[in-house]
Amino acid sequence: RTNPSAKPESALSPYACQRRTTMDNHNKIFTDALEVLAENLELGGNQGPSLAFRRAASVLKSLPAALRHLQETQHLPCLGEHSRAIIEEIFEYGSSSRVEEILNDERYRTMKLFSSVFGVGPKTSESWFCRGLRSFEQVLSEPSVRLNRMQTAGFLFYEDISKPVSRTEASALKIIVEEAVISVNPSATVSITGGFRRGKEFGHDVDFIIKTPEAGQEDVILTAVIERFKSQNILLYSDFQESTFDLRQLPTHCFEAMDHYSKCFLIIKLKREQETDARAGRDWRAVRVDLVAPPLERFAYALLGWTGSTLFERDLRRFARLERGKLLDNHTLYDKATNTFLPANTEEDIFAHLGLEYIEPWQRNA
Ligand code: CTP
Ligand code: MN
Ligand code: MN
Ligand code: MN
Repeated sequence: RTNPSAKPESALSPYACQRRTTMDNHNKIFTDALEVLAENLELGGNQGPSLAFRRAASVLKSLPAALRHLQETQHLPCLGEHSRAIIEEIFEYGSSSRVEEILNDERYRTMKLFSSVFGVGPKTSESWFCRGLRSFEQVLSEPSVRLNRMQTAGFLFYEDISKPVSRTEASALKIIVEEAVISVNPSATVSITGGFRRGKEFGHDVDFIIKTPEAGQEDVILTAVIERFKSQNILLYSDFQESTFDLRQLPTHCFEAMDHYSKCFLIIKLKREQETDARAGRDWRAVRVDLVAPPLERFAYALLGWTGSTLFERDLRRFARLERGKLLDNHTLYDKATNTFLPANTEEDIFAHLGLEYIEPWQRNA
């Protein structure tokens, strides 16, 4: 059973930022199950315990081949008793009874449905579930439910924005965003980040990062781009967040905290190639788009932070803190030993500061 020429599995690092994880997942049957367990905990507000399952799934995603026996998990990092029991059950019966139970659970199904709406998080989902609401129809006709602007847009465009965005649609959007950005500032550039930069074929949105060569351009450029989308009649929703960035801020310890860059969360009309929609007269679909505009000197940190995956980012920060005594977030890297901020022009510079081998964006699907 053991292959002496294979790299020993114990060589795998417990840190996602020291593993190369492509989109080519050979253990989907196991990772899907583990991620249902993680998601169920997250929907119940148990972020801490859910991480164990997220980490176990991530380790399996980085393997070069499918697991063949439970014993092969023996020397893998981050695989606890609980995760191994799930894997064992899948080996034996083809599925996990606990996972099946969750997938059929009314609370899980309802919470997942509600939190699939743009602007609805686990807290809102839970409050609706606890009021006995089980469907969108019930939520929308419940007098005590007050939707905010984001949730209203989320329901209004639900059908479109719950459909995955393709790579082709992402490229079409890039041309639209680029055109708008360049019309405001010809020396600014636009790059795709997020899941599409990691090589995903589909996404729930399209993430763009804007590079402006002049200091102080970050806020003006986004508001001007939003105005342009409005005048083109393609803006369906916009939530602009002004920069609260400060050069002297130390990196945050809180992973969930939003970064301080100028950014906006949008819903944009994207023209269809041909009118495939049954409803006559609609030649567009609604798509979720995120734009972020960091100051030039922090571009590399912002790009690294917005490329993801979430677990990759989480482990980069954990590695920096625990293994290197440095604090990392989307803005900067701070060396606690020398009390200095470490400048970086490229992502490669940041990995080098951390004494990490460079991991390409398409290898960050942890
Ligand atoms: N991100 C962030 N701050 C935000 C929003 C997003 O740092 N306010 C980061 C996330 O941590 C993630 C990346 O930006 O690493 C992309 O986020 P998101 O679009 O939610 O996920 P994707 O990986 O792009 O996956 P999907 O295809 O579902 O969009
Ligand atoms: Mn492979
Ligand atoms: Mn995304
Ligand atoms: Mn996004």
